[in-house]
Amino acid sequence: MFIDLITTADHVTPEHIKNSTAIIVDVLRATSVIITALKNGAKSVVPVISVEEALKTRKKLENVILGGERKAKKIEGFDLSNSPSEYTHTVVHGKNVIITTTNGTKAITRSGSANHIYIGGLLNAKAVAHKAHQIGKSVVIVNAGTDGLFSMDDFIASGAIIKDLMDLGPCQLSDLAQTALVIYENYPDIFTYIEKARHYEILMGLGLEEDIKFCMQKDVYDIVPEYKNGIIKLSKEI
Ligand code: MLT
Repeated sequence: MFIDLITTADHVTPEHIKNSTAIIVDVLRATSVIITALKNGAKSVVPVISVEEALKTRKKLENVILGGERKAKKIEGFDLSNSPSEYTHTVVHGKNVIITTTNGTKAITRSGSANHIYIGGLLNAKAVAHKAHQIGKSVVIVNAGTDGLFSMDDFIASGAIIKDLMDLGPCQLSDLAQTALVIYENYPDIFTYIEKARHYEILMGLGLEEDIKFCMQKDVYDIVPEYKNGIIKLSKEI
């Protein structure tokens, strides 16, 4: 199995990901939030690019919760921010969560031409690796990045998923995928590595250390969200 990696949402092209399984990673925090919402019983998560699109989509659905961020803060008039701690069972169970974030929802919606699109993070690294391995096609891990730039936190989390894929069978890695793996293997304490990341500093500056700690937990959930026809739901077994 060939594994490649794209470093930011802006770099995703249909040619690069067609015929592949895409795994979208925005570990701080969008994909961690989506995984958490579905684990806690959300019926679906609808990722959209803009606040306007979120408000329009709200009119078409029932039982809706609006979530997301701009500059890592809650959007005015929305129900929830982009903190996984807010997506509890009590709040999201049975709801359709419409979410818009700066980089994460862009990475997801731009990956629509892949054969399968899964939502990954450290929270479900093993589970998403297992799912991609079952599909058996080449894998492209799409990092959301931060404001069009490379993000260390997404990169090391991708290294964890690559390691889990390699544990399942022979893989050939692109140079970027190989580098993500090396970084992951050399920083068993992920926190030490991401402390130097720009987005880490932004979240710490907003007092969101607990969110970072939560998102950095590995394999606490064994679910795999799948993006299909504009909606994310838990993927069915294949
Ligand atoms: C994003 O999509 O840019 C992020 O998830 C930002 C955040 O941490 O809220």
